Amino acid sequence: MRTQVAIIGAGPAGLLLSHLLHLKGIESVVLESRSREEIEATIRAGVLEQGTMDILTEAGVGERMKKEGALHHGIELSFGGRRHRIDLTELTGKAITVYAQHEVIKDLVAARLAAQGSILFGVSGVQPQGIDTENPLVSFMHAGEKHTLQADFVAGCDGFHGVSRPAVPESVRQDYQRIYPFGWFGILVESAPSSDELIYAQHERGFALVSTRSPTVQRLYFQCDPKDSVDNWSDDRIWNELHTRLENSDGWRVKEGRIFQKGIIGMRSFVSTPMQHGRLFLAGDAAHIVPPTGAKGMNLAVGDVKLLSQAIEAFYRKSSGEQLAAYTENALKRVWRAEYFSWWMTSMLHTFADASPFQQQLQRTELENVVNSRALSTALAENYVGAF
Ligand code: FAD
Ligand code: DHB
Repeated sequence: MRTQVAIIGAGPAGLLLSHLLHLKGIESVVLESRSREEIEATIRAGVLEQGTMDILTEAGVGERMKKEGALHHGIELSFGGRRHRIDLTELTGKAITVYAQHEVIKDLVAARLAAQGSILFGVSGVQPQGIDTENPLVSFMHAGEKHTLQADFVAGCDGFHGVSRPAVPESVRQDYQRIYPFGWFGILVESAPSSDELIYAQHERGFALVSTRSPTVQRLYFQCDPKDSVDNWSDDRIWNELHTRLENSDGWRVKEGRIFQKGIIGMRSFVSTPMQHGRLFLAGDAAHIVPPTGAKGMNLAVGDVKLLSQAIEAFYRKSSGEQLAAYTENALKRVWRAEYFSWWMTSMLHTFADASPFQQQLQRTELENVVNSRALSTALAENYVGAF
């Protein structure tokens, strides 16, 4: 088998890269270890920056997102018994859309298959080889047989636990990491939204977040011990925790409903550099992870593959490797801004078990400053919508 770009992983990064390359007349094959049903059912991100919406729309896969996604012009910060609105649109001229990542996945898979794109699901033993040469290849098993896919380039879009990043020799790699001492308990609930806008709440018992998925489904999260088990959390215990962390004396209540999905995610900040080695290029979670508080992960993956697709196009059209050579440097500027923002939001909104009373006062003061200073509110809003 031979193609121009071998893509490992059919997450948002791999599928969108394949689609953007197709629109530029460049062939690719996507290798995915899970089934189509699994990738289309995995519940993850929900917030799309305006720039992400624009890229999906320009690529012709934004129709359902425009119809079914909810455009949000603000978010709320809740602390000290009060909620404070940050008007994203007034402060930045931009907005965000809440539209589930697995819906983006469905739209991209449908677009790739409609264009006769090649996605091989259920592959195993995927291994990039010869990335130091001009003839790299990827070996893998599919339907019980061993295959080799030869390519000009290999794109590692296989997420944090994939095989691509470890293919960059340790001697040239530098990893930066912070693991947080808490996780998020996430639930999906059958009910109308509790709020028109997302609510990020800081509370002494821990962070909580109100989000939505559709007019009949809510997405709620709360800070928990990352080693805890969903089995320890009855529905009653979950609702008690959410009511306590989110409600105050103004009469607003979190709407309850049937909880039909529960899960716990750990939280880390992570960047691996360089994002390329020879003919291998990493994109999305394969190269970097952010804690979810800033809602940046999927947006960063989209930003990476936009840059990478442009650089690969320049290689074929203009025989220029300049953009490819600058890929890591260009991608990392945005990545580190998002890393900073996600760390900042996480630090400002979560409860740290080892925080001294002094640090707790500083955290509260920081939140007060953000909501009372137009400059600081604008800085938060610009980062949240991805305005720069
Ligand atoms: P992935 O989505 O991880 O895709 C990688 C793909 O590669 C997977 O399909 C995997 O099966 C496949 N794969 C792995 N290894 C191999 C292999 N060896 N061979 C073949 N295939 C392989 N981000 C936001 O922007 N906004 C949010 O609101 C947000 N909320 C989040 C909430 C939660 C609960 C979680 C968990 C994440 C959230 N994120 C959010 C982060 C976001 O989901 C990720 O950043 C995003 O999925 C990254 O996309 P990706 O394509 O790089 O990687
Ligand atoms: C969602 C996830 C996030 O990480 C976030 O910051 C906001 C919303 C969500 O899944 O809806």
